[in-house]
Amino acid sequence: MELLVTGSAGFIGSNYVTRHLAKFNNHSIVSLDQLTYAGNLENLKVVMNNPRHHFVNGDIRDKPLVDNLVSKNPDVIINFAAESHVDRSIDYPEKFLSTNTIGAYTLLEAARKYDIPQFVQISTDEVYGSLSTTDPAFTENTTLSPSSPYSASKAAADLLAISYYKTYNTPVKVTRCSNNYGPNQFPEKIIPLFINNLLNNKPLPIYGTGENVRDWIHVYDHCDAIDAVLLNGRSGQIYNIGGGTEKQNLEVADNLIKVMGSSPSLIKFISDRPGHDLRYAMDCSKIYNELKWTPKIKFESGLIDTIEWYKNNVTWLKNITNGSYRNYYDKMYGDR
Ligand SMILES: NC(=O)c1ccc[n+]([C@@H]2O[C@H](COP(=O)([O-])OP(=O)(O)OC[C@H]3O[C@@H](n4cnc5c(N)ncnc54)[C@H](O)[C@@H]3O)[C@@H](O)[C@H]2O)c1
Repeated sequence: MELLVTGSAGFIGSNYVTRHLAKFNNHSIVSLDQLTYAGNLENLKVVMNNPRHHFVNGDIRDKPLVDNLVSKNPDVIINFAAESHVDRSIDYPEKFLSTNTIGAYTLLEAARKYDIPQFVQISTDEVYGSLSTTDPAFTENTTLSPSSPYSASKAAADLLAISYYKTYNTPVKVTRCSNNYGPNQFPEKIIPLFINNLLNNKPLPIYGTGENVRDWIHVYDHCDAIDAVLLNGRSGQIYNIGGGTEKQNLEVADNLIKVMGSSPSLIKFISDRPGHDLRYAMDCSKIYNELKWTPKIKFESGLIDTIEWYKNNVTWLKNITNGSYRNYYDKMYGDR
């Protein structure tokens, strides 16, 4: 099987490419990434010399480039490429609409033109909006109610992808996953941000009261779920993917502090994010029953492995926590 994978130098894309090539020794991947602040070729170092992997530096909105890559008739396009940080979407919504929605459109158009046998759009539980503490978990039929420009731009791409299935019969599948953690995650997201801060004895900024709940899944489990959808999922379908581990942000901070032997006094409450969703929770019975996929990595052990990974990759961390990241970090979470 030949795959065209976008967003391959980011957190989930790089784990997916590396893991997929190791799992399927007769598959090959062309991977496309614009190398924005979040894209890092270091993340792909294990596969850069693999003859079954070819990296292309480019933009999913670049029609001639996308047309050229898709004209080579890959068996599937998997679209991970995105602007992915909610806080940044509040500051720069246009970038999010442009990459997440128009970028997905550009890929879908090429898939339609060249009759590509499969298109997997990687999406998020955030498209469903917010739950109360007592609401039932999101199913694939939950009404979309995104709260941030990030989740709205992803919801638009999901709807467009499904419309291509209904209108043009483009064989599209959509996956919606909960919060990922694991190696290679850019340290603006809560778990690597907190690990990095604890390594440097810096405060952990917690929005509002810290009671916001997220469902956590290890990135390897997410990658395996995508393979299950790729190999056995049905076209025109949406599949929820979750880790079955609901945690308040404050609990995540407490866990990290405990495992890393740091002081609880490092917790620092800051003013809440506008439009901050209270709770996400996933009903994954569809993928469990239909594709027999279940998450394998327990949050507690996955978190310990993740902390170890960041401790063993301090140069990786240092390289990306300079420059523009530093400025953004200070603006968002600096002393206030
Ligand atoms: N991180 C999560 O917890 C999570 C959960 C569910 C779904 N998702 C989805 O998974 C996908 C990957 O998320 P991530 O956390 O790895 O994000 P990330 O920010 O780490 O990586 C995104 C990658 O996309 C690339 N990119 C950005 N704009 C591009 C463009 N115009 N053309 C080509 N490449 C471009 C970046 O360079 C980067 O390598 C996204 O679609 C995201 O919405 C993420």
